[in-house]
This record gives sequence, structure tokens and C-alpha cells, in this order.
Amino acid sequence: MGCICEVFIKIISMFLICYGLKTNALTDDFHSFCSGGPITSNTYQSNLNVLLSSLTNSFNETIVRNGYYNDTAGRKPNAAYGMYQCRGYITLEECRYGVESAAKEVLLRCPNIKQAIITYKELVVLKFSDQLFFSIMQEKPLFTLPNAKSVTNPDEFNPQFDRLANDLVSEVASNGVSSSTSSSTNKRLFATRSIDVTRSQKIYGLAQCTSDLSVSNCTQCLRGEIDDVGKRFRGRIGARVICMSCFFRYELYPLYLPDTTSPPFSSPMIPPSTKTKRKISLKVLFSIIVPSVIVVLSIIVFLYFCKRKKVAKKID
Ligand SMILES: *[C@@H]1O[C@H](CO)[C@@H](O)[C@H](O)[C@H]1NC(C)=O
Ligand SMILES: *[C@@H]1O[C@H](CO)[C@@H](O)[C@H](O)[C@H]1NC(C)=O
Ligand SMILES: *[C@@H]1O[C@H](CO)[C@@H](O)[C@H](O)[C@H]1NC(C)=O
Repeated sequence: MGCICEVFIKIISMFLICYGLKTNALTDDFHSFCSGGPITSNTYQSNLNVLLSSLTNSFNETIVRNGYYNDTAGRKPNAAYGMYQCRGYITLEECRYGVESAAKEVLLRCPNIKQAIITYKELVVLKFSDQLFFSIMQEKPLFTLPNAKSVTNPDEFNPQFDRLANDLVSEVASNGVSSSTSSSTNKRLFATRSIDVTRSQKIYGLAQCTSDLSVSNCTQCLRGEIDDVGKRFRGRIGARVICMSCFFRYELYPLYLPDTTSPPFSSPMIPPSTKTKRKISLKVLFSIIVPSVIVVLSIIVFLYFCKRKKVAKKID
């Protein structure tokens, strides 16, 4: 009896997981950038396939430290280099899911292309290339996604924003320095912080570089992103800036707790992907109602099934 129940619960949860994956794939959670021209070598193509599966399988074999992993498949001149970086606050499971999604999506968005960068919900950034790029800072392409709204108290807000941004950069640097004794190519270049603006207003910030950057290059990368926000979108109630090597984000709510949902932002200033997340309410609706109906129906069927089984036993 217990065994049947277990199997049944497994079937239900598998169904729900599949449903979840499907609805996720419908939204535009990715930003990508293809470069380097078409692939002309079959050897590179097969090295690239090996590389991408090495990235997605890294969770089985390696201890993924600081959400970072890199690998090389094959040899020059056909070597494929690849890496991913997950945000410092997400779980390993979320990281794995993000890397798998990104690795799949990048092949659809950059088919037969030598080099590509893709981000998944800005939680994961993944890159592959036919050129060695580890430890090299790459600030372009830069995706700046500002919130469309501005604060109503810029005179109070802006100085505190500057303070928060500076503190974050310093903290990332000091985390990087203190973690680099263990492994100089896998640093903890991540920090979160908050600052009070008024009694009821607080800014929450997050900054991170890929773990293979030098501390000085990381600092430079983050300053570039913060400058971009400060120059073009000063006083917005939130923004995120994603490039290959670093990530900066701030909001008026605690954004670094896992599972925070983000408010809609105005369309990205820089290519590609101009879709905003207007479909989200529909998606949320579906992802709540449909599974609920499935669960309720399943329970009814299950109870019916169990009852019949009992009756059958009694008859035996
Ligand atoms: C790694 O784990 C995933 C999921 O558990 C599995 O699908 C995959 O085949 C595994 N890969 C290797 C190389 O063991
Ligand atoms: C990972 O990157 C580091 C440099 O950041 C490099 O020394 C190392 O060889 C890379 N590992 C692989 C397997 O490519
Ligand atoms: C910083 O980045 C530049 C440009 O990518 C690179 O040439 C340099 O080697 C990097 N410096 C360090 C210390 O990693």
C-alpha cells in the first residue's frame, strides 16, 4: 500500500515538475549575444558539444564553488572553452537548472556560431568560445535593465545610492581578497548590502563578478556598470546591469532572498530581446490554477483508488 502511494506521489510530482519547466520556457528569460561567425570545423562542433555537456554535468562530478565552473574541450586550434557563473545567493539546484536551460537555449539562439554569451534570468551567465577567455574581463555586451519608475525623493536617495554602490564594490573586493588564498581562480566576488534612505525607504544592493577575475578587474567592471546606471538612469527605483564579467543590481526591496519576484522593468536599452514581462500575471495564473486542479483531481482519484484497494483486500 505504502509503495503504491509513493509511486503515485512521484507521478504527481513529476507531472508538476514537467509542467513547471514548460511554462518557464515560454517566457523571455534569456539575453544572448552571438559572435565569432559560423562554425566551419566539425572538430570544433563536436568539442563544443562535449563542452556544453561538461558544463551541465559539472554538478555531478565537481564541487561547484562560488557558483563558478570552467572547462576546456579538445585542443587548439579547435578547442572549445566554456564557463558559467551563478549568482551568489541562489541554491545549487537553481544553479543547475539555470545552467541546463542556458545551455539548451544558447544552441537555439546562436545555432552553429563559434562564440556566445547567454544569461538566464540574470541568475546565470554562460559563455563558450573558440578563444581562451578565462580570467579576462569582458564588459561588453552590457544589458542595462532599469525600472521605468523614479524615486520621488532624489535628493535623499541619490547620495545614499552612491554610498551603497561604493560600499558594495569595496565589500566584493575584500571578499575576493580573503577568499583567494584557497584558489586564485575561484574567488568569492560577491556581496549584498542595504542602506537606509528614510525611515521607510531602504535600498538593497547586490554585486558580483565571475570568480575567475582579478580583484582589480572586478572592481573596474563593477564601477563601469554602476557608472552606466548613474549616468543614464539616476534615481530609478531599481535597476540591474548584466555583462559577461560582472553584475550589479539594486531595488527598494530585499532582492537577494531566493525566490523574490521582480517587478516589470522598462524594455532593455541595449540589444537584443525587447520583450518585457507583461505575460507574467497570466503565467502565474496558469502555473497556480492548473497544477492545483491537477493535484485536487489526483487526490480524488488516489482516494478512490485506495478505497477500492481496501475493499478488494477485504474481499480476498
Ligand atoms: C548528471 O545528473 C543528471 C541528473 O541527475 C543526469 O541526468 C546526468 O545523466 C548525469 N550525468 C552524468 C555524466 O552522470
Ligand atoms: C579554468 O580557468 C582557469 C583560469 O581562470 C584556467 O587556469 C584553467 O585551466 C581553466 N580550467 C579548464 C579545465 O579549462
Ligand atoms: C584585466 O583585464 C585586462 C583586459 O581584459 C587583461 O588584459 C588583464 O590581464 C587583466 N588583469 C588582470 C590582473 O587579470
